[in-house]
Amino acid sequence: MTITRHRRRRARAVSAVAVAAMAVGMAVPLALPAAAAGSTLQAAAAESNRYYGAAMAGSYLNNSQITGILQREFNMITAENEMKMDATEPNQNQFNYTNGDRIVNWALQNGKQVRGHALAWHSQQPGWMQNMSGQSLRNAMLNHVTQVATHYKGKIHSWDVVNEAFADGNSGARRNSNLQGTGGDWIEAAFRAARAADPGAKLCYNDYNTDDWSHAKTQGVYNMVKDFKARGVPIDCVGFQAHFNSGNPVPSNYHTTLGNFAALGVDVQITELDIEGSGTSQAEQFRGVHQACLSVARCTGITVWGVRDSESWRSSGTPLLFDGSGNKKAAYNYSLDALNQASGTVRATPGGQNGGQQPTQQPTQQPTQQPTQQPTQQPTQDPGNGGGTGSCTATYSEGEKWNDRFNGVVTIRANGNIRSWTSTVTLQNPQRIIATWSGSPTWPSANVMVMRPNGGGALSNGQTASFGFTVQHGGNWTWPSVSCAAS
Ligand code: G3I
Repeated sequence: MTITRHRRRRARAVSAVAVAAMAVGMAVPLALPAAAAGSTLQAAAAESNRYYGAAMAGSYLNNSQITGILQREFNMITAENEMKMDATEPNQNQFNYTNGDRIVNWALQNGKQVRGHALAWHSQQPGWMQNMSGQSLRNAMLNHVTQVATHYKGKIHSWDVVNEAFADGNSGARRNSNLQGTGGDWIEAAFRAARAADPGAKLCYNDYNTDDWSHAKTQGVYNMVKDFKARGVPIDCVGFQAHFNSGNPVPSNYHTTLGNFAALGVDVQITELDIEGSGTSQAEQFRGVHQACLSVARCTGITVWGVRDSESWRSSGTPLLFDGSGNKKAAYNYSLDALNQASGTVRATPGGQNGGQQPTQQPTQQPTQQPTQQPTQQPTQDPGNGGGTGSCTATYSEGEKWNDRFNGVVTIRANGNIRSWTSTVTLQNPQRIIATWSGSPTWPSANVMVMRPNGGGALSNGQTASFGFTVQHGGNWTWPSVSCAAS
């Protein structure tokens, strides 16, 4: 048996595989009994108390293959365009809910919930609104929010109250728009109007390019939400659109972003997920996004932006889980596996069905705080005895740290080919592991966790696999000792 420990600063890998390995448990829970694997996206997500959604266009209702997939796989529906401002108020104060109602009614009649998208946005405004400004625009926007939220009152799980109000680039500032021109408080005014109209819906701010924690736009939105929470502006959730491609890949710190927003006391939701690409590389990125959400207790659901590649708003990038014939892609399989692997670890803990409820969990520390004491142990090494044709080495890497807990990642490296591996993590008193990811744990004692791979665990010479965990340290910052055994 080999034992290796060595110190490393934060992982810097940027691949989606690294996202998966580094995904972090942010606030809750201990390992739960393993549930039976879900065979559909909605069933697998429900194992950890999450929803799984898709955007749909009204035209999908005429396509039995797509409605069949929606029936089977999804339990949350977003109207892709039919509930936007231009669709619902084509002429000022003349509302048209025909197409939105078709989707909402189909969803509810088929036992699904609905995300409302979107009440106030600089884009897809009706023509009459585009050239408005000042108080008349402010009044028109608030009237729109009130009328539409009232029409759908009681039918909406979460509303995207305000969509895409921050600028891209390095400013971290609000986007220039006619709505912003009505005054910087237009966003909170929209949230207050939405709460008054439908107190039962969760109210979300929704945006894109807010996935990487280091980006100015992410920080801008974070600071707004923090301010809203401090001042009692009625916001319940933040939506991360999650439109990715090779120029805008899944960031390795996605779990940090989601966790830090959740620590403000809001739910977080992946609201428009699609990732351009194909094959295993696309699938691994989907897995990374799922694992990031699944590692955060208040990440309560994932919605993909469409069903089949052929109907996607960027169909040439084949960014979805089903191909144009409705077949499941590798991206589907990796996403389903990720959902199933979460069932034993971090269950979602939404802040309440009613948007007006307070969050059930509040962080006691800011997630960016650093520990007052550094680990004192030095790395040690001890080669593993494979028992088969190869052996393995377990390496502990320091992850993020908070005043009350820290994360660790264990990397298993195969020396020669191995059929599988187990890794033993031994804690120091009074430490307890409160969350794990990317592995299946068992607990021989309170201080000892034995982690097995999700799946077979075969590794060829030099290949690695990783799993992670969160330790509630109780004042003891000593790193856990780790070992592995190959078979
Ligand atoms: O329905 C008309 C059709 O009658 C007409 O012939 C055709 C001509 O271009 O346009 C059709 O409407 C298009 C509509 O999608 C329905 O397909 C619009 O031009 C087109 O602009 C519109 O694009 C939508 C886009 O939002 C508009 O901003 C996409 O479908 C929709 O997927 C996309 O969704 C947004 C989210 O709301 C917010 N986040 C980003 C996301 C992707 O852009």
